[in-house]
Order: sequence, then structure tokens, then C-alpha cells
Amino acid sequence: MKPIDLLIGRPTPNLQAADKLAAASQIILSQPEKSGMALTYGPDHGEDGIREHIGDWLSQKYRPVSGRITRDRIIITNGASGALAGILQKFADPSYTRRVFLVEPTYFLAVQTFLDAGFGQRMRGIPEDDEGINLEYLRRQLEEDSRTDDGILNTGVPRTKFPAQGYRKIYKYILYVVPTLSNPSGKTMSIHHRTALVELARQYDILLIADDVYDFLAWPADDGISHEGLELPPRLVDIDRQMAGSSEWGNTVSNGSFSKLAAPGLRVGWCEAMPNFIHGLSTVGATMSGGCQAQYTSFLIDEMLVSGILEHHIQNTLIPVYRRRYRALVEAIKTYLYPLGIRISTGKPYETFAMDDASNRVPTILSGGFFLYIDFPRGNQFPSATEIIRIGREEFGLTIAPGEIFAVKGDPESLKRAQSTFNLGTRLCWAWNEEAVLIEAIKRLAKAVQRAQELRS
Ligand SMILES: Cc1ncc(COP(=O)(O)O)c(C=O)c1O
Repeated sequence: MKPIDLLIGRPTPNLQAADKLAAASQIILSQPEKSGMALTYGPDHGEDGIREHIGDWLSQKYRPVSGRITRDRIIITNGASGALAGILQKFADPSYTRRVFLVEPTYFLAVQTFLDAGFGQRMRGIPEDDEGINLEYLRRQLEEDSRTDDGILNTGVPRTKFPAQGYRKIYKYILYVVPTLSNPSGKTMSIHHRTALVELARQYDILLIADDVYDFLAWPADDGISHEGLELPPRLVDIDRQMAGSSEWGNTVSNGSFSKLAAPGLRVGWCEAMPNFIHGLSTVGATMSGGCQAQYTSFLIDEMLVSGILEHHIQNTLIPVYRRRYRALVEAIKTYLYPLGIRISTGKPYETFAMDDASNRVPTILSGGFFLYIDFPRGNQFPSATEIIRIGREEFGLTIAPGEIFAVKGDPESLKRAQSTFNLGTRLCWAWNEEAVLIEAIKRLAKAVQRAQELRS
């Protein structure tokens, strides 16, 4: 039996745009003027022209109410992972930043970066609700914390980062979230929650770090409606810009990536935030020494952006392929897992608009990304997730994510909550496996559940 991996969350190799990247490389490397720039140390923010093109492209995609996204709001990064580390180096300090909140279930690979930055014991999970984040829970945490705040931030750690050394802004709190088509839950945060979150961030001096890495892999839930013309949710950074009273640093940074849109191995992405914030981020030590963290690959992306090839790849290859796989996966879950009481948990559907064939603006539900979450029935009658995963692995060659990996390490309450919530289910990914394999995987999962049920009875 051929093993199937449902844990792996990356694109199939044939979706990695190798041919388009080869063509872009050929163009860059065969023109001495371009290759000279692409192959040397780049400016710390990345080339101005490329920042400008990314800003224009984002403006077209998000259509922000506050207008065009200018290049001073953009820095080129080596992907969302590297950018997260840089943001923490520059804008957080364990001697001052009181807590790091992570919306749970959380993107488990981000957790190590917070541990690296010294926040081990001060990380707290904030549960999702149906609209993306349990705001009341967050508010309570902040209020409790403020009661112990006598104005002197006594974290027990000596201060290490000072304004005179270039750390002009350190936030009191950090909150990490994937607001749109989340990894792992697949949920999209409502506009109400987005706005309330930005308001809270301003009130309590929180930096909201939003991994906006799946936004452009979105499509309407209705099969009959084209994905082109789908209106995307405003990012937290858009709301922070448009709401009166933004500070000079802002309270949000949008962490974007070309990993899912071109290829993860390129290690290139961007951040968007207030110009002061972006400038601060460009002064991370590694960047000041090495220059733009993705100089060559940002030239490749730029070539594909300006020619329209990247957008074509997203609209005509990636989205149609992922949409078909998603549909196949959902159908298989309904056929084989629903009869066992297992359900897809999507949270409150995010209502938006798209264009129908006659160019009318029609309401629809946002769908997309890489992942969905399934919930197992609660109660003692149903076998445990651990048992299902073990049988899946040992008898059916199936690798499934244990829900508990999405708990926030360093917060014992998070793991406790997981046992009665997201550990009673699992994340499924459609980016890696093709349709036939996904269907086979769900059939095997159903068999693993039935086998676990037999063993119990
Ligand atoms: C939410 C989230 N953030 C960041 C990343 C990694 O992004 P990058 O390849 O740009 O470092 C991933 C990849 O799976 C992800 O799901």
C-alpha cells in the first residue's frame, strides 16, 4: 500500500512554476544591467522599483479603501518565516513585551520563532471562535494583565533594547494570527472581528502580525462562479490604515509570501506596514549586513509580476487545480466520513462578492487556501484521535496531523483546551496530493475510524 501524507502542507512540485522561473532567470541573467543589480548586495528594503510593483499589485488585489499602496509601505523579505523572526528582533523585547498571543489552533511552525525570541513562558493561546478569534477571551487576558501593570513593566529581565541603539518602537504585546483561510483551521476572520481586533491593538499597544500568505489562493464556494473578480477581505493592515487615529508605527504588519504563489524554495516575500515600521524592519542586523534578504529571487518575481505571468499562473494554474482538489476532498469527506459523524468545521462563512458570467456583482462565500479542519464526534463512544491516527499510520499507511501539534507551546492551558477542542479532529491539506490520492486517503481514514470503532466494541 502506497503511503499517503495528509500532514504535509506544501505545493506539489509540478505547481512550482519551474518553467516560468527558468524563463525569468534567462531574461535577468542575459542582461548585464539587470544581472549586475540582481546578483549584488541589494538595498536593505529591496529595489525601489520592485517594491513599487509589489505595492501596485497588492493595490489591485486588495483594492484598499485608503488608496494605492506606496513603496514606502513595502519591504522585500526572505519569506514569511524569516520576516517573522526579523519583526521580533526589531519590535519585541522579552524585557518589555509582556506577552505573545497566538490564535489557536496555531500554525505550529511559527511557535519556534517565538521561543527563539525568548518568549517561552510568556506565550498564550487565544482560542478561535466562529468568526476567527475569541475577542472576549483576549480582552480578559489583557485586562488581567493590566491589573498587574503598575506602570513599571516588571518582567524580571533586564532591558536589552534601547531607542538609542535603533529600537525606536517596542510593542507591549504581540499577537500572531492567520486571519484569512487560516492554517490550520481554514477559517476566515469576520470584518467585525478584524475591526475590533485593531481597536484592541491600539488600546493595549499590541502589534498584530498577520500571516496573509493564503489570501490570493481564494475562490467562491459556489462552483458555478469564477474566481476572477472575487473580492478579498480587507487585511488587518488595511483596516489599521483606514481607521482614523493610526499611530506613526501602526499596530499591524501584513506578512506576505511568494512561497505559495510561485515556489517555497525561492525564499521571497514582502511585508506591508506603516513606512516607519518598514524602515525599522530594514535595519535588522542581518539585512544591514547582507542587504535585501532575497535580492536575486525578488528580481525573478518582479519579472513575472510585470509581465503578468505570475498572475496568470495564480489564476489559470494554481487556483483551478486547488479548487478541483478541494472539491474532490470535500465530496470524499461527505461521502465517506459524514456517515461516521465526522464534520467539516469551517466557522462562520465569510460573505463576500464575486462576478458572474454577465459581470454582475453577486454574493458568495470565500473558500480556498491549503487546509480544512474536520471534527470528530464528541463523547466517549467515539475512538480517540490518537487511536485513529495510530491505526491510520500502522494499518493504512496514512499520515495525519495530531490536532495537539496546533496548541501553543509554553501555555499549558492551550494544550488542555486542545484536548476538548481541536485535538478532537485534524487538519487536512489538498495542496500536496492530487484528487485521486485525496479520495483514496479519505477512504482509508474512514476505514481507520471503523477499525478503531471495532477495537473499542
Ligand atoms: C501561516 C503560514 N505562515 C508562514 C508560512 C511559511 O511561509 P514562508 O515560506 O514564506 O516562510 C506558512 C507555510 O506553510 C504558513 O502556512
